[in-house]
Amino acid sequence: MPKLPEPTVGDTSWFVHDRFGLFIHWGIYALPARHEWVKNREKMRDEDYQKYFDHFYPDLYDPTVWAKEAKNAGMKYFVVTTKHHDGFCLWDSALTDYKATNTPWGKDLLKPMVEAFRNEGFKVGFYHSLIDWHHPEFPIDGLHPMRDDVEFRERENQRRDIRKYAAYLHGQARELLTQFGKIDIMWYDFSYSQADWGWSKGKGKDDWQSEQLLAMTRELQPGIIVNDRLEVGGDIKTPEQYQPRGWLTVDGKPVVWEACQTFSGSWGYYRDEYTWKSTEMLIQMLIDGVSKGGNLLLNVGPNGRGELDPRAVERLRGIGEWMRLHSRSIYGCTASDFTPPPDCRYTQSQDGKRLYLHLFAWPFRHVHLDGLAGKVEYAQLLNDASEIKFYVIPPGQQAQNTTMGGMGADTLTLELPIVKPPVAVPVVELFLKS
Ligand code: GLC
Repeated sequence: MPKLPEPTVGDTSWFVHDRFGLFIHWGIYALPARHEWVKNREKMRDEDYQKYFDHFYPDLYDPTVWAKEAKNAGMKYFVVTTKHHDGFCLWDSALTDYKATNTPWGKDLLKPMVEAFRNEGFKVGFYHSLIDWHHPEFPIDGLHPMRDDVEFRERENQRRDIRKYAAYLHGQARELLTQFGKIDIMWYDFSYSQADWGWSKGKGKDDWQSEQLLAMTRELQPGIIVNDRLEVGGDIKTPEQYQPRGWLTVDGKPVVWEACQTFSGSWGYYRDEYTWKSTEMLIQMLIDGVSKGGNLLLNVGPNGRGELDPRAVERLRGIGEWMRLHSRSIYGCTASDFTPPPDCRYTQSQDGKRLYLHLFAWPFRHVHLDGLAGKVEYAQLLNDASEIKFYVIPPGQQAQNTTMGGMGADTLTLELPIVKPPVAVPVVELFLKS
């Protein structure tokens, strides 16, 4: 039987089954269209950044379209930025004026999104920034857009009180956790208490009052999954922009984890970013994660008119095409204890009965599976349910002309078609003997 991760406080039973979610980074940074950290990167003052607030008008916004694209891609849950580091809020918060309802658009963006995704059967997750570069009580540190204005920051930091900001943070979290029905995931981002700029330090659990925030989150939404960026533990580990080499562990034990990844390097809409991953690479990343016991949260950055980037849509549809035929090797699957051959990944159904061999490179005629001789009852290509023959080559057999040499007694050889099946990543489904 495949390994299980360490138990969690939040309910991760659905999460480790569903495996694939949509991340959405959306806010007024879609207008500059050059990264969600643009205010920081370009050291903009509030006045400089205000033009994006004043011109925000996503007239083509239709979250039903987003939800349908995500569903077609095979995603089962979504996580949206209710507020990012720039402080802009997508919902009609009673605690700030800095929100969608006060832009020219004038309407709440979050309610209709939650509704649209729920209608398509999605679980609901909120990303909420712990950092806030707009709030007047958020002390200016080395990450803040105003960090280099020494006179300003010294004056302001004498006045600013992180405890007042923490009250705002908790108040907004309470709104999010009480006004939108059942919330399945709370994704707080992020802590950086280890940072030290000499004149300022990074912020972390003491600043956010993380213990209380976590307790309130669990109390308001029993069963909710909380990520690991509050510096007080949490239910899931969240590697970002890299694929872990193996199952993520804490104190040597496998834990529930989710990689968050972008299509193109930026989370927010970035018009001139060209390092877009191929559909094939993205499918391989999804498989790779599940083969190591993890999930994939794949991000879109909708544009200022409220549409998904056509480059993202193209890839989502490509992933959907693959998922239509292969989702059986993803949903309800996890890492296998068997070691796959080179260029391959195994996933295994959580009940241990089926093993899925994903071939990232298509070999000529044969693939050899160590440890599987005598264990397979039937094998087929998953895309068309066509039989794959298998046999054990006698260990002592000498290689000669057209005869293969023997391998280990436990090695099972599969006979593959010469022509790679017409799918991005072919999968062989192995029914294991019970
Ligand atoms: C980072 C970034 C951020 C992004 C997030 C997604 O921590 O600050 O822009 O929202 O990762 O995981």
